[in-house]
Amino acid sequence: MEHGNAAAADRDLIVPRLVAEPWYVDRITIDAHRFAAAGWSMPVTADEPAGGWFTVNGKRFDRLAYPLLRSDVGAVFWQRERSSQCGFDGEIDELSEPYRDGVLELRRVIDDTPAIERGRDAWFLPDPARHPNLPDDDRRFRVIGDRDARGFLVSGATDYHRIDRVLVNLTGRHLHAFDRVLDWGVGCGRLARHFPLAHAHAFVGCDIDRDNVDWCAANLPGTFVASRIAPPLPFERETFDVVYGISVFTHLREPMQRRWLDELARITRPGAILLMTTHGETAIDFARLAPVDYRNTRDRLAREGFVVSGTNSQLDGHAEHGGEYVNVHHSAGYVRRIWGRHFDVLHVLPGYILHHDLVVMRRP
Ligand SMILES: C[S@@+](CC[C@H](N)C(=O)[O-])C[C@H]1O[C@@H](n2cnc3c(N)ncnc32)[C@H](O)[C@@H]1O
Repeated sequence: MEHGNAAAADRDLIVPRLVAEPWYVDRITIDAHRFAAAGWSMPVTADEPAGGWFTVNGKRFDRLAYPLLRSDVGAVFWQRERSSQCGFDGEIDELSEPYRDGVLELRRVIDDTPAIERGRDAWFLPDPARHPNLPDDDRRFRVIGDRDARGFLVSGATDYHRIDRVLVNLTGRHLHAFDRVLDWGVGCGRLARHFPLAHAHAFVGCDIDRDNVDWCAANLPGTFVASRIAPPLPFERETFDVVYGISVFTHLREPMQRRWLDELARITRPGAILLMTTHGETAIDFARLAPVDYRNTRDRLAREGFVVSGTNSQLDGHAEHGGEYVNVHHSAGYVRRIWGRHFDVLHVLPGYILHHDLVVMRRP
């Protein structure tokens, strides 16, 4: 498959590394103290670091097979050289305390990842015993397009801690250490459930999906409010120190996006940090496009900066959106130019939240 696709591709589309090298954990098992994990991570050409290619809570694997053939991954990332040589499968015989502070950290070691992007090299598995009350399949499906319960926990913890890493890098403070935090588009609390209970007074979530908001209010610590597809939000001006929005701007048409940029500026304090994901160039790498479509999609995004790529029916019947909830792409250049009129755009971190880029901004 990979060879067929690559042969059909124009050679100039093939690159030695992607801007944000993807990786993924397919399986983690913890049986007594025995730990095993399998997944894939783009192959590297350097020698194995002294501490190993991968670590679990800082400990290297006792046995690790890497790189293994993963033709399925190679077929997706045909534009990346040797991408099918990316599988890993490892075991640790004795991992005595897997969930320190309620979460296990699986890292890959890539020496040249910039400090602000290091969160991308970590996946987090929360202690399932601390999460007995998950939202049902339909609620989860509406926010992540997937019904897998383990994926909901792992992706939520991973996104949460990756955001936390950016904040620590930027400000020296954890997310929970800020006075007022807003999860804009909280859904059914995929990230919100990882905000520490002891700081729940600082946390607010809002969403246009009232059923999911009600579920959060009944099941999670914090304050949860229903909001509307268009501004304003029911908050005073300069209320929040941090606002994050995971996969919200990926769904709003351009005029609505502009109104929300104004509204987010209104409700944040000077110096506040905003963390918003977009579907940018990385999302195109993940899109399983044939070479001709891949080239055309990239060229179009580079030319237009903002592209509506399709409709989205996931919220139909659950939130009034009047056709405003669609799928969109932003180029990093567009974000710096247009969003930069509202905020200081500090970073656009490619592939930081899996196939989403993370836009890190400061309210002037
Ligand atoms: C793809 S889901 C992501 C949910 C959540 N952020 C997460 O990552 O699990 C997008 C969410 O944004 C919400 N949403 C869409 N437009 C919104 C708006 N204008 N204000 C607040 N929430 C909105 C949707 O209802 C939905 O829950």
